[in-house]
Formats: sequence, structure tokens, C-alpha cells
Amino acid sequence: MLEVIVTALWVMLPAYVPNNAAVLFGGGRPIDGGRMYKGKRLLGDGKTWRGTAGGTLAGILVAVVLNVIVSFLRAGDFLPVFPRSVVVMLPFGAMLGDLLASFFKRRFGRERGVAVPGLDQLDFVVGALLLVVLVAPNWFGDVFTLPVIAVILVVTPILHLSMNIAAYQIGWKNEPY
Ligand code: CTP
Ligand code: MG
Repeated sequence: MLEVIVTALWVMLPAYVPNNAAVLFGGGRPIDGGRMYKGKRLLGDGKTWRGTAGGTLAGILVAVVLNVIVSFLRAGDFLPVFPRSVVVMLPFGAMLGDLLASFFKRRFGRERGVAVPGLDQLDFVVGALLLVVLVAPNWFGDVFTLPVIAVILVVTPILHLSMNIAAYQIGWKNEPY
């Protein structure tokens, strides 16, 4: 059981960090450039080029560092090693999932920053896993066993919420979710 939890957290770390990094890097030009669709913003001011690029790069850095740690500890039999495609797609998928969620939030008439419980906590998980299964299906099958996925689905919302409440209290984020 402990091994499943450690694997789940280890493998998701490069998908967790981009969200928080995006909050730090965010600002500047929104991706949708202010464009509207049926009277609503396409994505909104909360999705910026800087936040998306900074978040993705931060996640890539995390994956690279985790790989270095595994190789240093010679722990490749116990901990997942990220293939190069996954190093990029895990963080990028996380950012993409978050963008897609904002697209749907705007379509449902939710303004930027309004919470949608469930979607806000799991959008980046779905995006990250989808892209990884596309670029590295065999690796995905080895690492993301059903118990690992179950742990991810339970632990991620708790972690995400705690991180965002912390970021809110420090004053980095405008809303605590
Ligand atoms: N951010 C960004 N670019 C992204 C994701 C996030 O710049 N691709 C920054 C923005 O400053 C954003 C903050 O991180 O306001 C918090 O992210 P999030 O909660 O995902 O955005 P919201 O502002 O809540 O907007 P939305 O309602 O669209 O989720
Ligand atoms: Mg939000």
C-alpha cells in the first residue's frame, strides 16, 4: 500500500507543480487575447501565455530532477523513471487540462476565478494522464495501475485544495481554490 502511495505521488509531482508555478509566473497577455465566443471569453484572463509556459517548464524541471534522484539512488526498480516524452507531456498535459476546464467553465457562464468543485481539482489530472497514455502507452500501463490511479483520484483533490489555500493565505492567489 505504501509503495502504491509513494508511486502515485512521485509520478504526479511533475503534474502538480505546473498549477502552482502558473500562479507565480502568471500575468501578461491572456492566451485568448481577449477574444469572445457567444458573449463569453474564450478562456479568460486567468489563462496566460506566461503562466502556461512557466508552469510547463517548472513541471519539466521537476521530472528531470526526479529522474536524476532515481538514477543517483539506483532506485529504478522501485520508483518510476520518466521517459523523455513523459517528462514533457505530464506537465504540458496538466496545463492543457486546466485550459480546457476554463474553456468549459466560460461556456457554462462561470466567470474567471469562480470555483467548480471537482473540475478544478481534477482537470489537470485528466489532461496529464490523457497525454501520457497517448505518447507512452506501455509506460503508462506499467506505472498507472488501478490502485495507483485510485490513490491519485483521492489524494489529488486534497493536496490541490491545501496548496491553494496555502497560496491564498500567503497572498499569491486571489481565491482559496
Ligand atoms: N495562471 C496562468 N496561466 C495558466 C493557469 C493559471 O497565468 N495557464 C495563473 C493566473 O494568474 C490565474 C492563477 O494562475 O489567475 C490561478 O489559476 P486558476 O485557478 O487555474 O485560474 P482562475 O483565475 O481561477 O481562472 P479559471 O476560472 O479560468 O480557472
Ligand atoms: Mg481557479
